[in-house]
Amino acid sequence: MMSDSLKWWQKSVVYQVYPKSFNDSNDDGVGDLNGITEKLNYIKELGADIIWLNPIYDSPHIDNGYDISNYRTIDSSLGTMTDFDQLLKKAHELGLKIILDLVVNHTSDQHPWFKESQKSKNNPYHDYYIWKDPVNNHEPNNWGSSFGGSSWEYVNTVGQYYLHLFAKQQPDLNWENSKVRQEVFDIMRFWLNKGIDGFRMDVINLISKKADFPDGPVVQQKKFGDYYYGAANGPKVHDYLKEMNSQVLRHYDVVTVGETPHTNIEEAVKYVDRRRHELDMVFHFDHMHLDYGKYGKFSKNRFKLKDLKIVLSRWQTEMAKHHGWNSLYWSNHDQARAVSRFGDDGKYRVVSAKMLGTLLHMMQGTPYIFEGEEIGMTNLHDTRISDYNDLETLDVYKRFQNDYHLSKEDIMKTIHMKSRDNARTPMQWSDSKNAGFSSFNRTWLKVNSNFKDINVDQAKKDPNSVFYYYQKLIWLRHNYSIVTTGEYRLIDNNSQVFSYERVNSDEILLVICSFAHETIQYKVPIDLKQLKHKVLISNGDHYEWDDNGNIILQPYAAVVYLIKTKQEY
Ligand code: GLC
Repeated sequence: MMSDSLKWWQKSVVYQVYPKSFNDSNDDGVGDLNGITEKLNYIKELGADIIWLNPIYDSPHIDNGYDISNYRTIDSSLGTMTDFDQLLKKAHELGLKIILDLVVNHTSDQHPWFKESQKSKNNPYHDYYIWKDPVNNHEPNNWGSSFGGSSWEYVNTVGQYYLHLFAKQQPDLNWENSKVRQEVFDIMRFWLNKGIDGFRMDVINLISKKADFPDGPVVQQKKFGDYYYGAANGPKVHDYLKEMNSQVLRHYDVVTVGETPHTNIEEAVKYVDRRRHELDMVFHFDHMHLDYGKYGKFSKNRFKLKDLKIVLSRWQTEMAKHHGWNSLYWSNHDQARAVSRFGDDGKYRVVSAKMLGTLLHMMQGTPYIFEGEEIGMTNLHDTRISDYNDLETLDVYKRFQNDYHLSKEDIMKTIHMKSRDNARTPMQWSDSKNAGFSSFNRTWLKVNSNFKDINVDQAKKDPNSVFYYYQKLIWLRHNYSIVTTGEYRLIDNNSQVFSYERVNSDEILLVICSFAHETIQYKVPIDLKQLKHKVLISNGDHYEWDDNGNIILQPYAAVVYLIKTKQEY
């Protein structure tokens, strides 16, 4: 039985749609809202409960919609407000909820507020943004922008610098100004009153900057200091979120998930401890950082399983202890494809995609599936730099050439591993033109060349596909309350197998996931022979046991047992 004290979003699975890349209904090479509406049945069939849409608002698309010029209109490339209303209505009819991206750390420099803001220091909108006088004819501090270069841009008309933690076309809003906060709350009400079901909040932990704007430490290989030193989890962020909660969120039955880079578990629980009334969940990056190296994200390192176990286990136990709730994800629009990064996108693509799904979906929290993950879509491998669109990728390519003098081959290798465009390529629906995404001659971003083999049509025809496996994982969450409520316990520190238990008063869910490339033996810590048990799901046909309780695990094997602890054989 599901515990009734849980909220609907704690029993849900989220499916993330990147609107530009999901489905193109009007054949112009760009995905759109009507395209999403056409595919609602697909998401319903998978079994997800909530759809998160990346930004759909008017934008010059410098950062693919994360630079918003009007928060109350739909970008014309994606459709109209009528299309959105229709999408929301149809989704609700199918029992699907929709959450939108709320991007309010910054706007576009084309937003009317910013255009006014830079006219003069006396303009009523000047104080909507963060302006500082030059210090000794220089930037006010050494903060670097997330996308390269300084995070300050000088504007002649006012003789000041404005802050942009991201691209210079994404000026940071000044949350100290209560008018800005009221504007944001109004925007939220506008969408909530339309009936949306919540928000994913973009870099929401960056909205309060340290008042003295201290220099950040300059680490090797960087010209500028780290901005987040003075901007992440700043002094007033919790006041602002409490205010947002009391003025807006608590008046609606909605879900919120905040994106919180540079946030450890101790900081994270302050956002999601339900007694504090701020947010429901956050996205942390601890597992995403496990393969960072000398060049940060764009290094050629691979993660180590022992680190992954430590990180994910910590988040599992600490969240439960501190009255919070985890978000569970392998991938999103900013990350490489899960199967390429954490599994094997060659020979073992299908089994390793299923194994990763098992590991994540049997944990406590709300799982997020990024479009295409459910069919095991992979990174791009055979590309040139001219195939890319993402500003971060293009900037890294330039910087690595000019500043670090790396070879083109080396740079492309890391881009193949980490570029955000790996995730953003068009959804692969079929083996026909442009993977069935669009019938236009060109798509806004190159279709992955493996679409003939990896696509939804193929997955639907194959009963052993990743798609049906994900469908079953979701079904298990909906039908076995232990998946939602069981206490998490890591089993051991084996370097090839990630196994854990979920425990309640009379059951154990035993999850065994191998990350080994070869067949291995694994000693199961529970004597299953004595206890009533069954396999709930596995990505292989059978599991052989020897007399000593060793299980033979094929490469990337995953198996989940449900064990009745009070009923012996
Ligand atoms: C978040 C978004 C990312 C965007 C950045 C700036 O990290 O997920 O796509 O570039 O914020 O808005």
